[in-house]
Amino acid sequence: MSEPAPYEPVPLHFERLAPEEQLRRSRAFLETMAKRRSCRFFSQAPVDRELIVNAVRAAGTAPSGANQQPWTFVVVEDPETKVAMRSAAEAEEQAFYDHGSATWRAALAPLGTDAVKEHITDAPYVIVVFAQVHGVASGDEPGSSVPVKHYYVRESVGIACGLLIASLTHAGLATLPHTPSPMGFLAPLLGRPDAERPVLLLPVGLPAAGATVPKHALWKKKLDEILVWR
Ligand SMILES: Cc1cc2nc3c(=O)[nH]c(=O)nc-3n(C[C@H](O)[C@H](O)[C@H](O)COP(=O)(O)O)c2cc1C
Repeated sequence: MSEPAPYEPVPLHFERLAPEEQLRRSRAFLETMAKRRSCRFFSQAPVDRELIVNAVRAAGTAPSGANQQPWTFVVVEDPETKVAMRSAAEAEEQAFYDHGSATWRAALAPLGTDAVKEHITDAPYVIVVFAQVHGVASGDEPGSSVPVKHYYVRESVGIACGLLIASLTHAGLATLPHTPSPMGFLAPLLGRPDAERPVLLLPVGLPAAGATVPKHALWKKKLDEILVWR
């Protein structure tokens, strides 16, 4: 097995902002994020690939347990692959809407969702985020490999997904965190290894003309319900 990398401190590059500039940026970012809405109706209009690449790069800057960066972002643009993903997702969703947990279906009722997932084929890109449950390192024998334990995978991938969504939103794109349940079809369809588990499927693009959102999504908890000072 390879030796751990040594500890080697290097200078922190940190841009100190004037207080007014800090406030200006903080308010502008809040304003952008407050307008974010999960979009379920996409235009087929093309979107510059660099916006997607930059959002994935931003996600890849996320902090992670032991800096193991346990994520893979698969960007699907091939129409046939999108059709295959949609039909597999719709089969799972149909089973859920027909026989899934009644309490879960009740929680989803205000969102008006159903088994039809046209966003998967309409959006120009679908990003599928995979969590690397463990890593792989070279073993002692030539050509052999051994699994490497990954720490805080769920937390790390969750943070990376947050940065991804924030970056897409900041770039003026619409997206939706979609979690077909179960998602077992995604890894074989997208050729991912056994060590990777799908976490989120995110159609990305521009909203379709006349797109609507559920009124329920406009409700957000008030600040005093989520912020506690001590
Ligand atoms: C982990 C997670 C899973 C989600 N899964 C789905 C999903 O499968 N289908 C869907 O239509 N929306 C899904 N959503 C979107 C939520 O319904 C949406 O975020 C919520 O209603 C609030 O709306 P907003 O994103 O516009 O603020 C999911 C969101 C998260 C964070």
